[in-house]
Amino acid sequence: MRTQITNYIRAGYPGIYLVSHEESRVEAELKAISKAIKYRLYAWSATEGMIDTADGTARSANDPLEAVTAVGELPENSVVLLRDFHLFLQDSNPVLIRAIKDALAVGKTKGKVLVILGCRQVLPPELEREFVLMDFNLPGRETLGTVLDQICQSAKLKRPADNERDQILDAASGLTCSEAENAFALSIVTVKGVRAVNVAAEKAATVKKNGLLELVEVREGLSDIGGLDCLKDWLVKRRDAFSRRAQQYGLPSPKGLLIVGIPGTGKSLTAKATASVFGRPLLKLDAGKLYGSLVGQSESNLRTVIQTAEAIAPCVLWADEIEKGLAGSRSSGSTDGGTSARVLGSLLSWLQEKRS
Ligand SMILES: Nc1ncnc2c1ncn2[C@@H]1O[C@H](COP(=O)(O)OP(=O)(O)OP(=O)(O)O)[C@@H](O)[C@H]1O
Ligand SMILES: [Mg+2]
Repeated sequence: MRTQITNYIRAGYPGIYLVSHEESRVEAELKAISKAIKYRLYAWSATEGMIDTADGTARSANDPLEAVTAVGELPENSVVLLRDFHLFLQDSNPVLIRAIKDALAVGKTKGKVLVILGCRQVLPPELEREFVLMDFNLPGRETLGTVLDQICQSAKLKRPADNERDQILDAASGLTCSEAENAFALSIVTVKGVRAVNVAAEKAATVKKNGLLELVEVREGLSDIGGLDCLKDWLVKRRDAFSRRAQQYGLPSPKGLLIVGIPGTGKSLTAKATASVFGRPLLKLDAGKLYGSLVGQSESNLRTVIQTAEAIAPCVLWADEIEKGLAGSRSSGSTDGGTSARVLGSLLSWLQEKRS
């Protein structure tokens, strides 16, 4: 991630759009990048104006239009972080769009980079080609490990043993840094130590918040399913394909399983049993909730789902009642402007390309 952003800045890209919920982590990352390549970092928000992060001096430019105009007065080689700017682009203010285009043109020659940070992608078509779009990935194990060590240190607890630490980090994967920090802290307050079960329970609550995914607790196993012997056999055979040894050997891991059948014949039951056969957490996707009312929202919802699932991986992603979510993708062009066809397309290409 860091090298990618660094390369964009050094190559003279004047506009970068980062999609993330984690403002402070993005800002810390940009600070480190700017320092390494000797750029100045300015951070703008509607409440604080434009702040020079090196010395803390602020210029009052609380209006988004003023902020973009102020970019012209900044010294050469600077990175400007624009917080919440997607909210101002939402209603396509023509003056603001023009100002951004002007700032990008000047930025290209003077080494000034506009970085828009928002929790979802809102780019009017006029600006689509001017910005590179990047999903700022959720923190990896290493970053979460640092968060864990810091919180243990400040609570004067000793570092968890290696295998316990692994379990805690597994439980925390898929959370943002601040969510993980909160989950660790809550666990320390309630049971006087960081426990994987408590962190996992917090994660289940967090994942549920956006209403798209739910972490389901599984009790059902293969022995609960009557009949379906071929399917059970298939699952048991595939179990080892996810192991480290199989991957080192070069065995491709199974991509997915589509279960079709008349109501009440054990489709949902099999999905749950799959998670317990593989010994992985079960994430349930509500396909019907993927669709949002705003343009581009459905696609961005799917990206959120994929990002969370990949961060929690290895896991079983259960898309229940998928035919209801993707119904109508054939006539999509004339009924919903192609949204469901695009969502289906993104889902299929992810299924094919995914490595996690
Ligand atoms: N093969 C089976 N073995 C044991 N129990 C079964 C089997 N098939 C269905 N059941 C039971 O029937 C109930 C309904 O099953 P399930 O919810 O898995 O059906 P489904 O195929 O997902 O149906 P729908 O299409 O309505 O979602 C469950 O309580 C499940 O335990
Ligand atoms: Mg079902």
